[in-house]
Amino acid sequence: MKAKDIKALVSVQPPARTKAERLGRRSFNVEDIRKQAARRLPRSVFDYIEGGGEDEYSLRRNRDSFADWSFLPQWGSVADLSLESTLLGGPVAMPLTLSPTGGTRLFHPQGEIAVARAARSARVPYGLAHLSTTTMEDVSAATPGLRRWFNMEPIGDRGLLDAVLERVSRAGYEALLLNVDCRGIGHRERDYRNGFTAPPSIKPRTVVEGLLHPSWSLGFLLNDAIAFPNLDAEVPEGPLASTPDMWRTLLAGSYEPTDWNDIEHLRSRWDGPIVLKGCVNPDDVDRAAGIGIDAIQVSNHGGRQLDHMASPMDVLPELVRRADGRLELIVDGGVRRGSDVIKAIALGADACSIGRPYLYGLAAAGEAGVAHVLNLFAQEMERTMTLLGVASIAQLHADGPALIRHRAEMFERSTTPARPRIAAVPDELRSRA
Ligand SMILES: Cc1cc2nc3c(=O)[nH]c(=O)nc-3n(C[C@H](O)[C@H](O)[C@H](O)COP(=O)(O)O)c2cc1C
Repeated sequence: MKAKDIKALVSVQPPARTKAERLGRRSFNVEDIRKQAARRLPRSVFDYIEGGGEDEYSLRRNRDSFADWSFLPQWGSVADLSLESTLLGGPVAMPLTLSPTGGTRLFHPQGEIAVARAARSARVPYGLAHLSTTTMEDVSAATPGLRRWFNMEPIGDRGLLDAVLERVSRAGYEALLLNVDCRGIGHRERDYRNGFTAPPSIKPRTVVEGLLHPSWSLGFLLNDAIAFPNLDAEVPEGPLASTPDMWRTLLAGSYEPTDWNDIEHLRSRWDGPIVLKGCVNPDDVDRAAGIGIDAIQVSNHGGRQLDHMASPMDVLPELVRRADGRLELIVDGGVRRGSDVIKAIALGADACSIGRPYLYGLAAAGEAGVAHVLNLFAQEMERTMTLLGVASIAQLHADGPALIRHRAEMFERSTTPARPRIAAVPDELRSRA
């Protein structure tokens, strides 16, 4: 090669100017960002995000169930490709929402406000957890224009319910995400093994962990203490030692287990959309549609509650048939790629939702990290749709069944002997033989 040829090959990148740029150069998918979050967080805090109930079967199945579906691309124009869609009667830039996660400030001091800002920039809805570490009012004040949903447990005490609904409505939340998978608390054994509490208690082990993760520790120590301010009015005893303690208090007190009558009552008290979060049972979908529920978030709580609870992708086709267009379906659990979202929509879902992926982004780089995750999802969805041969979410809904196939069906088709090319031997040839 001549010197000028070598010179033409030399490429020196200027240093990244922003966190977002740095992240973009190093992280090409959610798994890359997950690794960065694992490096930044103390082990017990990272495991609190990662862990699932008991043997973590549902946690693993959530991921594996996406791999059971394969694409059958079609040839056609993908000019003017768009991810725009609608959800609960309003526009979304892509069919994705951010699921509620309690204790978010534990992972990064910017917490829920950073998540909400990134969601607003990406024009997707954000479900704020009842167990958030920032008040619902502060999140609203920081993010006018964001489509905000509020996540809560069914509340048996009618006076308390009215007070909570009044507060949620005043704070400008358009929809309720009602948990129906939290009658008890899942046994997340990683947390017990790590001695994890929220907020983290200071003991020799956490001090060592803290010293090994100085940037997280500084953020934790120099910012407001972790608290659950949306619950102030409802849990008068003051701060609780651990998430399990908090759940136990909620479940034993005003939040005593409720039934369908309470959900019907809630329907009569809230004019906006209601999403039941945590259904995988077709009969529940039927019943919810019958009482005017607007959507189901098909979810096993990211595998964190009942282990062996069905994975959303395994039940989705049946739920789509039972819903029969009467309510919308949002799938969460194990969604890590834009292609996962496209698979769920091809099967009849209206959108997907993510929990851990945006928490990885938050832990790695605050708001810029969440924005990067959302950007990756958008790029991956566009790429998948291009390669699949569909130009819009509406087209994906219409053509979906022809574009995706379960491995069980492929196996059955591939093991069924092919029919002979000459279907039948004419009688006159048969008699000559
Ligand atoms: C750290 C963490 C906290 C969570 N807290 C809540 C919560 O307060 N309320 C709720 O309905 N779901 C909660 N979830 C479940 C998520 O809303 C969502 O269903 C789940 O994370 C989706 O699975 P994925 O993490 O694989 O995307 C939490 C999940 C995580 C990882």
